[in-house]
Amino acid sequence: MATAFSPRLFMFLVLATPAFSVTPGPTAPLRFSRFLDPSNVMYLRWDFDIKTEIITFELQVRTAGWVGLGITNRYTNVGADLVIGGILPDGNIYFSDQHVLDDDTLEEDGSQDAKLLSLTQDAVYTTMRFSRPFRSCDLHDQDITDDTVRILAAYGLNDIVQLERDKTFVKSIFLLQMIHLDDLKAPEISYIYDLEITDFLIPEDDTTYVCTFLPLPIVNKKHHIYKFEGKLTPRNETMVHHILVYACGNASSLPTGMSDCYGGDPAFSLCSQVIIGWAVGGNIYQLPDEVGYSLGTPLDPQWIRLEVHYSNFNGLTGVYDSSGIRLYYTPELRRYDVGVLQLGFFTFPIHFIPPGAQSFSSFGLCKTGQFEEMNGQPIPDLQVQSYMLHTHLSGRRLKAVQYRNGSQLRIICKDDAYDFNLQEVRDVREETVIKMGDELLVECDYQTLDRTTLTFGGPSTMNEMCLIFLFYYPRNNISSCMGMPNIVDVVRELGQEASDTMEAMVLLNDIEWNNESIQKAEEACRDSEQLVIIKSVDEVVRNETGRIPTITPTPRGSCLESSGGKVESEDKLSFRTISRAPSGSSPLSPSYQSLSSILLVIMILFGILSAFPGEI
Ligand SMILES: *[C@@H]1O[C@H](CO)[C@@H](O)[C@H](O)[C@H]1NC(C)=O
Ligand SMILES: *[C@@H]1O[C@H](CO)[C@@H](O)[C@H](O)[C@H]1NC(C)=O
Ligand SMILES: *[C@@H]1O[C@H](CO)[C@@H](O)[C@H](O)[C@H]1NC(C)=O
Ligand SMILES: *[C@@H]1O[C@H](CO)[C@@H](O)[C@H](O)[C@H]1NC(C)=O
Ligand SMILES: *[C@@H]1O[C@H](CO)[C@@H](O)[C@H](O)[C@H]1NC(C)=O
Ligand SMILES: *[C@@H]1O[C@H](CO)[C@@H](O)[C@H](O)[C@H]1NC(C)=O
Repeated sequence: MATAFSPRLFMFLVLATPAFSVTPGPTAPLRFSRFLDPSNVMYLRWDFDIKTEIITFELQVRTAGWVGLGITNRYTNVGADLVIGGILPDGNIYFSDQHVLDDDTLEEDGSQDAKLLSLTQDAVYTTMRFSRPFRSCDLHDQDITDDTVRILAAYGLNDIVQLERDKTFVKSIFLLQMIHLDDLKAPEISYIYDLEITDFLIPEDDTTYVCTFLPLPIVNKKHHIYKFEGKLTPRNETMVHHILVYACGNASSLPTGMSDCYGGDPAFSLCSQVIIGWAVGGNIYQLPDEVGYSLGTPLDPQWIRLEVHYSNFNGLTGVYDSSGIRLYYTPELRRYDVGVLQLGFFTFPIHFIPPGAQSFSSFGLCKTGQFEEMNGQPIPDLQVQSYMLHTHLSGRRLKAVQYRNGSQLRIICKDDAYDFNLQEVRDVREETVIKMGDELLVECDYQTLDRTTLTFGGPSTMNEMCLIFLFYYPRNNISSCMGMPNIVDVVRELGQEASDTMEAMVLLNDIEWNNESIQKAEEACRDSEQLVIIKSVDEVVRNETGRIPTITPTPRGSCLESSGGKVESEDKLSFRTISRAPSGSSPLSPSYQSLSSILLVIMILFGILSAFPGEI
């Protein structure tokens, strides 16, 4: 046995060491940050290395008690992971990788996958910095992906680690942001323009969407909008949830004033092309150096619809708000104009989602074959730089897939944990070029267990949408390219005969919706011939037909074994205490980690050796 032992041990050490050696140290700046609770008690900084797939978190909390940070899901905190730590009154540090057993109980993971980098306390804050792999091999740890991540953050006022409802928060964050403001150049001349609601009395309702139509800045020559940020009325508690800016094609018939976006007056839901999506906590979004939104040419929008979503969960009264978006624009023109291509399922009137569905997928196809003819000139390849996803409340997952010559090229973007309240512009992970002739497919997945009647496509939040906006350059004249199935064929598959679309939509109400008919309807929609409708900015409409190609999922990457050491059953304490470094603020000594990695390697090795005795 001893002869086989040393080369394998060597191999494991070589594999295990570099992965953790690149994590930022205890003081290296972390590029991203956000408050995690409405009262700004918990502040998170983070950064990551996309190659080694290690993320570093620094959680700063206004407490002298324990602090915890982990990842949960949409429905329950049970099963969430939570890394906890703190400093005891005697100065000893505790730190542990745990998971949530039930509403208020935590249990330490058998595999310790978080690595403590520092834990400090001053008169105001307890600050814990640690790193962890995007994907550990411990089933108690949740993966960090390109999806929306629901951060679980909790703290206590003392060192008794127990979840308390009023000190436990869940916040959706898109963690793996590719570009940071500091990586970008700012122009020398820059103007500011605010798109804002004025003195809006926030209703007592939990949720309010208020819309108003506003002009974009009037300029006498072409400018570029290159940056935007949320402009919030300062307040002790954030009530603005997210803000969307939609470009309007034609200004002449827009309503004036402020109103419920999706209420009695349908005019307030006009203009559907999203150009800016900003979610609370999102800081500043700046476009890459070579691109900008064109302003001031005849092809550019002159008006926008500003949509502000308020949450008033505490039912506060008499609160006036003047929040909105601050635009930065410049006459120093960038090389390219940004264009927005809207993809997805054509919203009205075909789109339907059955009630009681655990999962129902809608597919919308785009074919780019006619784009050049519609532009009247050749179209350069589309360089996609960012995207935004959009469904309403029952949307759970979205993705956009690119096909060329009948083969899947890539999944351009996806989110398997979509959160309606976190609609923001995200940069694509890899260079994405769309060539004329490519096909683009959008899949949206919905969950309607809380509904008893059909959900139809439409602008209200109780209706649904299935849209993905691709931000690309250089701009061309196509504004949207969306698909829908032949509904007459779909209802025939469900055993009903209709002579036209309207009759088919009415017949959908006669269908008894159970899991079998739901699945049948999904398959019928997917297998039906798609009608693809393409629109240009000047409202020229073309259509063609196609078939939904199959989607090959991207395989999950491999997981990273713990290098923090396994906790054996005999020392399964509620948490382990480690004596504090003498300086009080320096991280744990490196020897602690490397010793435990070696122990782990030996344990893995013995596990492997004993599992395959025949091979040794
Ligand atoms: C913020 O202030 C309002 C009144 O000004 C108060 O009712 C509310 O409780 C405060 N919220 C927090 C989190 O302090
Ligand atoms: C814009 O509005 C004018 C006046 O109402 C109307 O004549 C024109 O058709 C509209 N154009 C588009 C593209 O909707
Ligand atoms: C698709 O395939 C044809 C023939 O194999 C080739 O000529 C064409 O360039 C391909 N299209 C793209 C966009 O690669
Ligand atoms: C868009 O269409 C306009 C005419 O409607 C045309 O002048 C312009 O060149 C077109 N732009 C592109 C990029 O094709
Ligand atoms: C479908 O099955 C799920 C359980 O998997 C159930 O909760 C749901 O109510 C069923 N839907 C219908 C329409 O029967
Ligand atoms: C598709 O376009 C053709 C003309 O190009 C038109 O006659 C037809 O009505 C359109 N079909 C639909 C469903 O819009």
